[in-house]
Amino acid sequence: MNAGQDKGIALRRKVQIELQLNGEPTEVSFAPYKTLLEVLREDLGLPGTKHGCELGECGACAVLLDGVPVLSCLVLAVECAGRSIETVEGLARGPELHPLQAALTDLGGSQCGYCTPGMLMTAKALLDREPNPSRERIREAIAGNICRCTGYQQIVDAIESAARELRAADEASA
Ligand code: FES
Ligand code: FES
Repeated sequence: MNAGQDKGIALRRKVQIELQLNGEPTEVSFAPYKTLLEVLREDLGLPGTKHGCELGECGACAVLLDGVPVLSCLVLAVECAGRSIETVEGLARGPELHPLQAALTDLGGSQCGYCTPGMLMTAKALLDREPNPSRERIREAIAGNICRCTGYQQIVDAIESAARELRAADEASA
């Protein structure tokens, strides 16, 4: 067997990893060259994370890795062993939308919806760290998430509105 055949066999062999996916311990096996985006969509059956440019330029594929937004098209899935991944599928609590999802819907911040999952995860990471961001901070945080429909105004409005709702809920439960 030559070196090329060896390499071909190595690439076809699957790797298996364990990770926390939306709070649940999860095992998954996949071809070792796959990105996190591919594994989420193709091996874990979670198509909510969108497949856009695959070049790190559009933000459609953003998910949270250990609470930090990453472009899943640029992350090798094998690097996620033992780590925590949050995707848009983990945002709602049963039938109850996350305040960010509800606000984007109510305020027209989601139109074709293609950018929405990445936008939601990026905004969640911001509000987890900064419960009361300025509009400028919101714009800065979502600068890598391209939206071709809304002009961004409604998205910033929605993130501000969700931040208010989350702060009110926090105060009510304190
Ligand atoms: S698909 Fe990952 S940044 Fe565009
Ligand atoms: S709602 Fe269409 S790309 Fe943002």
